[in-house]
Order: sequence, then structure tokens, then C-alpha cells
Amino acid sequence: MNNSYVPVKAEIIEVIQETSSDVDIKTFKIKLVDDEKMDFLPGQFVELSIPGVGEAPFGFASSPLERNFFELSIKKTGLVTEAVHNLWAGATVWIRGPFGNSFPMEEMEGSNILLIAGGLGLAPLRPLILYMLDESNRDKYGSIQMLLAARSSRDFIYTRDFDQWKEVKNTDIILTIDNPEEGWKGRVGYPHIIVSEMEFDVNNTYAVLCGPPIMIKFVSAKLVELGFPENRIFTTLEMRMTCGVGKCGKCNIGHRYVCIDGPVFNMAQLSQMPDEY
Ligand SMILES: Cc1cc2nc3c(=O)[nH]c(=O)nc-3n(C[C@H](O)[C@H](O)[C@H](O)COP(=O)(O)OP(=O)(O)OC[C@H]3O[C@@H](n4cnc5c(N)ncnc54)[C@H](O)[C@@H]3O)c2cc1C
Ligand code: FES
Repeated sequence: MNNSYVPVKAEIIEVIQETSSDVDIKTFKIKLVDDEKMDFLPGQFVELSIPGVGEAPFGFASSPLERNFFELSIKKTGLVTEAVHNLWAGATVWIRGPFGNSFPMEEMEGSNILLIAGGLGLAPLRPLILYMLDESNRDKYGSIQMLLAARSSRDFIYTRDFDQWKEVKNTDIILTIDNPEEGWKGRVGYPHIIVSEMEFDVNNTYAVLCGPPIMIKFVSAKLVELGFPENRIFTTLEMRMTCGVGKCGKCNIGHRYVCIDGPVFNMAQLSQMPDEY
């Protein structure tokens, strides 16, 4: 895909209902028509449009090693997302991108990785997880610990992946929910509490967080308190965006545009920026 201003035609090839709670999240498997391939890096996003409705940005949620299709996990919140939720396999959507920077996969090589996701925040981390857990890349990273949080057991996404991820060597998943539930075998409590009970070498670990702003605020503060350097804590921002290419000014925080300077930032960068995110 060359022209970042002109959407290309794409087809939804599968729709997966992720949640069974009142938070409605579906994953859409999409392929570009005319055999075009989608090359993207973990952390990047596309603009998806439906003619007559509108356009909205969504982070990639599938493996960057798969170029024949990509997945977007979309929460129903308003006009565009509701219209997408009403589509099924065979429907046409229009795509611009990929846009934005990526997680620092090369910089993180040789280090342990701590991934902390809240709810739909697991979506932009999934390409990173699938990339690192792939046989061709697994030895480039040390231990991979995932702390996955959700409001309730019915709010986890990608539960179908969890057993496979856990089987990969030196990889661990902790699941936590906000309140006790009958039959729940995981942890109960907010991720910033659980993380303070986990063990890691803060001098050789990168943390990557994604979730609601309140979760990012508490978890990043806890990680700094535990000794993580701010430049080894990464997150991704979901600011309001229009063009996606640094032209409209809709997504700026201070002098930075989230669409081209981000959406991935480390805490050292964010602490230099005005407190708008
Ligand atoms: C880089 C990036 C990646 C994203 N990735 C995903 C993703 O993987 N999955 C996903 O479901 N969503 C993602 N989003 C958010 C998504 O773009 C918005 O939910 C979408 O634009 C809403 O469009 P709408 O027309 O359905 O809602 P609208 O009708 O425009 O708005 C409905 C309500 O949602 C609020 N709203 C709209 N956009 C945002 C936003 N960005 N942040 C907070 N509140 C908002 C509005 O104020 C309004 O109250 C991402 C956003 C960005 C910038
Ligand atoms: S979305 Fe237009 S400048 Fe970033």
C-alpha cells in the first residue's frame, strides 16, 4: 500500500465475537483485495472507513509475520465502530495505512519482557506477543511475563490464544480480574497491586503497557517505584485522530503528533509532554 491518503478496498473474511459481557468487542479478519499485502510493525495502526459513515483509527491486532490478512479488534462505542460491528464476512471496508511508529522490538532484544494489558489494551500488544513468541524470534528475548487484567472473566479477549502462549518456553501469563467470581482460578485485584508482587530484574526488563489511561497511570507509577527506568516502560496512546499522517493537527500533544511521533511512547517521553493524554 503506497498512497497513505487514498483508501484501498478490503474484505472482511471472518468476524470473531471476543467478549460475552456488556463491553462489545469483535475481531475482524480482513484482507486487501487485488492480492495486495499488508506490511506492518507491532504498534502501528490503520484508518478504516465505511463510505457514508466515517473513518476511524484501529491498531493492528494480528501477527506482523502474516501478510495475507490482518486483524482489528474493535469495541463498539459510536458511529463507525457500530457500523463495523454490523458487518459480516464478505463485506467491504476501506483501509489507509499502516501508520505510526512501533514498539522497539530490536532495542528490547536480549532483555526480559513484562507485558501488562487491561481489557482491549491487549489488542495492540498481540502483534508484539505473536512476533516475540514466534519460533524465529523467541530466542532473541529473555523471559516473557504477561499480566493480563480485565473487569470480569467475561471481558478477556483472545482467550483462545492463552494456552498456546503459555506453552512457549520461558513464558508466563497471570490473569487478574477486578472482583472475586465463583469458580475463578486466576488472581483478583488491579494490575498495579499484582505487579508489585511479581519478581523481575528491573535492570534487564522492558515493560510494555496498554489499557485505560487510569491503569497506565497507576501501573507506570508502580513500575517506576519498583525501580524501572522510565525509558524502558513503553505504552501506546489512543488520541482522537483524523488524517493519521501529521497534517490535520487533531492528535497533537504539545509539539508532538501522536499519529506520526507515536502512538508508541516511553514514559520518559511522556513525562516531557503536557498532561493531556
Ligand atoms: C492509534 C489508535 C489506535 C486505536 N486502536 C483501537 C483498537 O484497536 N480498537 C478499538 O476499538 N479502538 C481503537 N481506537 C479507538 C477508536 O479509534 C475509537 O473508538 C473510534 O474512533 C470511535 O469511533 P466511532 O465513530 O465509533 O465513535 P464516535 O461516534 O466518534 O464517538 C463515540 C464516543 O466515543 C468517544 N471516542 C471516540 N474516539 C475516542 C478515542 N480515541 N478515545 C476516547 N474516546 C473516544 C467519543 O467522544 C464519543 O463519546 C484507537 C485509536 C487510535 C488513535
Ligand atoms: S491525526 Fe491528523 S495530525 Fe495526527
